[in-house]
Formats: sequence, structure tokens, C-alpha cells
Amino acid sequence: MLVIVKETYDAMSKEAARLVADRLRKKPNMVLGLATGSTPLGLYKELIRMHRDEGLDFSKVSTFNLDEYVGLPPTHDQSYHYFMRENFFKDINLDVRHIHVPQGMAKDIDAFCAWYEKRIAEHGGLDLQVLGIGGNGHIAFNEPGSSLGSRTRIKTLTGTTRMDNARFFKTKEEVPRYAITMGVGTIMDAKELLLLANKTGKADAVKAAVEGPITAMCPASIIQMHAKAFVFVDRDAATKLTGNYNDSWESKIFQ
Ligand code: F6R
Repeated sequence: MLVIVKETYDAMSKEAARLVADRLRKKPNMVLGLATGSTPLGLYKELIRMHRDEGLDFSKVSTFNLDEYVGLPPTHDQSYHYFMRENFFKDINLDVRHIHVPQGMAKDIDAFCAWYEKRIAEHGGLDLQVLGIGGNGHIAFNEPGSSLGSRTRIKTLTGTTRMDNARFFKTKEEVPRYAITMGVGTIMDAKELLLLANKTGKADAVKAAVEGPITAMCPASIIQMHAKAFVFVDRDAATKLTGNYNDSWESKIFQ
């Protein structure tokens, strides 16, 4: 695991974007796993800028999103389909046929989840998976207690996560109760992981994920078992860490 601490959210996002761009230039048809939420917005903004100003080319890239709410159509402004279109996809040159976001309106959710796993495998697996982290240590919608070997499936959201996400809905009752999510095992199969966290509200979760015991009670802690996991944090999210960490991902040997 390589932990990179940057002074600000902006610096963290730009550094993470440089890593994604590096991988994309090396493999133009890379398979990129994506996350929603507030954390990766700066990363997406910088990748959009690189596309616009530096010609970073996404035309051969395939994407797979981590998760989607069950019951929200892609047109709903809180669906993750909508989020990805508005915050990333519409401003880069991705081929729409290469975009995969779980179908929250699927009639047969189990069959959809099995298809999603198969589709990732048909693409040769995820090259790089972008991750945020929940205040309770979740990754994607794998809440505390999720099997560390789990695959894509439907999950019930915890009260905490529903409350965290209520800020995006008019009322908290409107926050969906279920989501389709890649499993922890699905995420761990990615060749590289890029976990991002900023703000003091994430400091405990980052501490538990990076320096705590590996436990299903903090699903993000499993990244300690990944051979190539990058953790990018801003100074605020790093306040509880006690190890000596890096400020760049380049030319660093994995610890
Ligand atoms: C979203 C996702 C979630 C978020 C996490 C942090 O696709 O997988 O696990 O990464 O809830 O959300 P933010 O970034 O809004 O703090």
C-alpha cells in the first residue's frame, strides 16, 4: 500500500489524476472502475481538464461504476448514472457503449449482478479502481460486516449511510434503502486501487483502513491485502495517521 498525503483537496485530486492519466497513456483501452460521491469530483474535474487541454484520450477506455441505488431511473438527478454523466462522462470522449453503471431498475437484480461480474471478466478485469471511503469505513456500498470476499450484489444501506446521503435528497425518507454494489472481492480483483479521502470527517475511517486491523467491520481495511493499492488523502483526512507517508506516487517502491 502506498499512502500519499497532499496538503489540500485540490493537490490530492490533481496528483490522483496524474496517476490515472499515466495509466491511461500506457494502456489506451484500460478498464477503469469509477466511484461517485463528493470525493472524486476534483479528480474528474482534473481529468476533464487534461482531456480538453492536453488531449487525454478516453475513446478506447471502458468504465465500470461501483454502485447504483435500486429503484432510481438513470434520469433521476440522484442516480449514479446521472451523477456520472453530469460530472464526468459528458465532458470527455468516452464511447457510450463502453460505459457500465449498475442498473438500479433491473427486473432481475441477481441476474443483472451475475452479468455485471461476467462483463468485467470479459473485459479482462478492472485495471484501476477508483474508491471513496464512507465515514464508517465502507467501500462502494459494502457496509461494515460485508463479506470481504463478496461479489456484485444487492445490499441494504445502513442508517448511517442513508443519513450521510440524505443531504442529496429533499427528505431523508427519499434516500433509497437498497443499492447494487460491486463486492469487496470484486474490488480486490482490480489490478490497482486508488482510494481517495479528504476532510477531517474521514480521518477515523482512513486511520482504521490504513493502520487498523483488517476486519469486515471496516471493509476498506482489506486494501491492506492488495498488492497495488494507492491511498490519496489530504492533510485533514490524514490527521489520525501515525506512519511516515509519501507525497508522490512516482518512483516509489510498494510498502
Ligand atoms: C460511491 C461509493 C461510496 C462513496 C463513499 C464516500 O460510488 O462507492 O462508497 O465513495 O460513500 O462518499 P463521499 O465521497 O461523498 O464522501
